[in-house]
Amino acid sequence: MDSNWTDLHALYAPIAQRRITDLFADTPDRAEDFSAAFEDMRLDYSKTNIDNAARDALIALCDRTGLATRREAMFTGAPINETEGRAVLHTALRNLDGGPVLVDGTDVMPEVLDTLARMRRFADAVRSGALAGPGGAFRDVVNIGIGGSDLGPRMAVRALVPYHHGPRCHFVSNVDGADISDTLRDLDPRRTLFIVASKSFTTIETMTNARTALAWMEQGGGDVATQFAAVSTAPDRTAAFGIDAEHVFGFADWVGGRYSVWGPVGLSVMLAVGPDAFDAFLRGGQAMDRHFRAAPWGQNLPVLLALVGIWHHQICGHATRAVLPYDQRLARLPAYLQQLEMESNGKSVAMDGHALTMQSGPVVWGEPGTNGQHAFYQLIHQGTAVVPCEFLLAAQGHDPNLAHHHRLLVANCLAQSQALMRGRSLDEARALMGDIGLAEDERERRARHRVFAGNRPSVTLVYPQLTPFVLGQIIALYEHRVFVEGTILGINSFDQWGVELGKELAESLQPVIEGTEDAAASDGSTAALVRFVHRHGG
Ligand code: F6P
Repeated sequence: MDSNWTDLHALYAPIAQRRITDLFADTPDRAEDFSAAFEDMRLDYSKTNIDNAARDALIALCDRTGLATRREAMFTGAPINETEGRAVLHTALRNLDGGPVLVDGTDVMPEVLDTLARMRRFADAVRSGALAGPGGAFRDVVNIGIGGSDLGPRMAVRALVPYHHGPRCHFVSNVDGADISDTLRDLDPRRTLFIVASKSFTTIETMTNARTALAWMEQGGGDVATQFAAVSTAPDRTAAFGIDAEHVFGFADWVGGRYSVWGPVGLSVMLAVGPDAFDAFLRGGQAMDRHFRAAPWGQNLPVLLALVGIWHHQICGHATRAVLPYDQRLARLPAYLQQLEMESNGKSVAMDGHALTMQSGPVVWGEPGTNGQHAFYQLIHQGTAVVPCEFLLAAQGHDPNLAHHHRLLVANCLAQSQALMRGRSLDEARALMGDIGLAEDERERRARHRVFAGNRPSVTLVYPQLTPFVLGQIIALYEHRVFVEGTILGINSFDQWGVELGKELAESLQPVIEGTEDAAASDGSTAALVRFVHRHGG
């Protein structure tokens, strides 16, 4: 382990048991000092065990690992995705009024803006009914894609329901036939628009679902020429599938799947909320890019979020991180972040080819509050593992008639981070129980179950309201956080070789499942499971 990490571990060891509440008692302005703001967004990381010395040591990591240089390399189109020899330029997709962005000496912005204009024209035509199916104006849109071609638009469409005034949007991702069958059940095959979203246009799940959708639509009297659109980097494959080139929206290989919601992969979002709101989403992302590029490390939201993450996982050794949006419309954010963070930084080899000397990225999971409170918060409060939590909270909701709901939501969110930090001592538990007429040892036994260790860290991100602009800020914030963590860990956050082996084995197992090859060549467990499936009619 290099000195970057030994310094931090040495710093942590003597303060590991220190109470966060003591930090507040010692420093009255801790909440201000350990918060940072960008526009109307505020990140509070004061409810952690990070003090000035720890923060300085964490910030020093940014310079020691060349973060500024690598950040500029990313924004200016250098091939920082070295294992695939590609630039990393999802930021160009939201560079609405920035300057040129060069890849191999060519400005990519004219093509980016041209595709955006084509998306806008297509969305306007669909939303106005000028482009319709044989049964009339499109009532439903089905995005068929998986991973980055699904999670981003699915999350964003859900997040922006108050701005949704286009056709209904559905998402089919799983190769399990139940997904497409349940989705198509109540749809009209002559008034449904399919978007086949696949960067590679080879992903088995997406292509299988797309063929099933095509057959369903044709059997129901639909028309592929008007009812199918595609989003891909492979125009030859979209043409071979039979999709009209007018309805194909391309993007370059320098947009990673999990970073692609800002471009054509976001077409379903644009259809739902309209081109202007989609623009606002892009502008939110662009605003965060500018902040990330310019703000000093100690005021830089993505950097601070990353450093807190590194502190909790690589230094304190907490294995997982919970993302807890107190914003029901961000229900799909944890799933989206699972791909963004775990596919990006779940690696064990550093960019230089050597094994990592510390943990890679943590397990990320979560659910919206308050639902989670009635499910897994028990473990977060009283389990033996410490789970650092990330709360997200809007100051206001969208429905003035339901403001009392929102006040309850806010109170619950703030109460949870307070409870995690404060805890409840045995003395407090005893006092709360009062005299309930029990023998002393029984009273003591029961009191112990009511103790909360506390001192459990959390950060809280607050924003005025979940608008398209703010959603853009939030997503770009998390993208850059992943980039910063990856850079500090020495990881290439933009490849995903770890998904390949399972795909290859699934392909070689297919003839075994179909019964045209013998299962005996597989390991004993797999062969027995195949026999079970066959015995039961599979
Ligand atoms: O298998 C993982 C992956 O390659 C993801 O990185 C990607 O988002 C997803 O599959 C879908 O890929 P595509 O958009 O090429 O269908």
